[in-house]
Amino acid sequence: MKQTLTITYDTLQWEEMDNNDQALVEKAKNSCKYSYAPFSEFHVGCALQLEEGIILTGNNQENASFPCGTCAERATIFYAHANYPHLAPTVIAIAARRKDGEYMERPLPPCGACRQALLEMENLFQKPIKMILYGTRESIIVHSIKDILPFQFEANMME
Ligand code: THU
Repeated sequence: MKQTLTITYDTLQWEEMDNNDQALVEKAKNSCKYSYAPFSEFHVGCALQLEEGIILTGNNQENASFPCGTCAERATIFYAHANYPHLAPTVIAIAARRKDGEYMERPLPPCGACRQALLEMENLFQKPIKMILYGTRESIIVHSIKDILPFQFEANMME
C-alpha cells in the first residue's frame, strides 16, 4: 500500500520574522566568521537558544583528515548539552555562506546526522526544537526536528 508523508513548515521574508528570531539569525551569521573551514570554504554558523534565554553559538570545524571535522549544528548542540545539561534547547538558527562570502539565497537544510543529533535532545527533553533556516531570499521555519526526520531511530527501539 502506498503511503504519503507530508511536512509542515513556514517560509518567511526577513521582515516577517519576529525580533527574537531575527536576533538569533544575526548571531548565527556572526558565528560563520569563526567557522574553521579551510577545506570546503563553506562557512556555517548556528545560534541555539536554551530555556532561561541562554544563547550559544557554534560553527563547522573541519580537519585535514576530513571525516574528523564536524558540522555547525552538532558542534553547537553538543557544546550546549555538555555545558547546560539541565536546559532544553528551544530554537536553533542556521546560516551559511559560500566562499564568495555571500549568504545562501535559499536556506541550508541540515544534514541527516545533525538532524539525528538534534532529535536526541528533542526526545530527551520532550520539547520541540524550532529551527530557523536562514536564506537571503526567504527563510524556512520548521517547528520540530521530528518534522524533518521521518522514520526516526530512537533509543526505545533497542528495548
Ligand atoms: N556543514 C555544516 O556545518 N552543516 C550542514 O548542515 C551541512 C554542512 C559543513 C560541514 C563542512 O564543514 C562543510 O559544511 C561542507 O560540507
